[in-house]
Amino acid sequence: APAVIVAIDGPSGTGKSSTSKAVAAQLGLSYLDTGAQYRAITWWMVTNGIDTDDPHAVAAAAGKPEIVSGTDPAGPTITVDGVDVAGPIRTQEVTSKVSAVSAVPEIRARITELQRSIAAAAPLGIVVEGRDIGTVVLPDADLKIFLTASAEARAARRSGELKGADVNATREALIKRDAADSSRKTAPLAKAGDAVEVDTTALTLPQVVECVVTLVEEKR
Ligand code: C5P
Repeated sequence: APAVIVAIDGPSGTGKSSTSKAVAAQLGLSYLDTGAQYRAITWWMVTNGIDTDDPHAVAAAAGKPEIVSGTDPAGPTITVDGVDVAGPIRTQEVTSKVSAVSAVPEIRARITELQRSIAAAAPLGIVVEGRDIGTVVLPDADLKIFLTASAEARAARRSGELKGADVNATREALIKRDAADSSRKTAPLAKAGDAVEVDTTALTLPQVVECVVTLVEEKR
């Protein structure tokens, strides 16, 4: 069978990562978390004292760090200049700064090229999750999914992951980040015209996974 490319987009807290990893594992495909790449380059900017609110400074440094993503859904990895940053990219500081960094066109151009080369190299195919995968990165994907969920459900899931974080503060931060990601000029968070929208508010993870796996199998 030819390699199958699955694009999964949507706002934060809709279950993109859990769904994408499980679908890739079940179908024997590679997996790419593109949010982790934007977080990794943001971590590098913060660590190197670059003002992330200055788009010119961010653009000037865009080509400097080397980002490498491991694509095994059972244990995805992310390194910056050889350093494992899987933990540090999830801090609140990186989370609060990633939208500004990812809005810079030079950053997107570089990371998009990296994503396309990783997808093209996946032997059996890949599940790629993000915000602009179906619209910009892989517009010829075999299947495009757009996950949604109510703000309440998204905040509840995210604060569960963050082990007891305040649900209201988490909801406000999520809404703010999604608004920034949706309103930027370059490759905003958007549903592709040919994407299948799945509202996960009332669904369990296994239900969402089954739904996506069935859609992939129909395309094969
Ligand atoms: O998916 P995650 O929440 O880890 O993504 C972190 C941030 O990376 C998003 O809020 C967004 O600013 C950026 N991002 C993006 N394009 C993608 C994936 C993530 O701009 N394809």
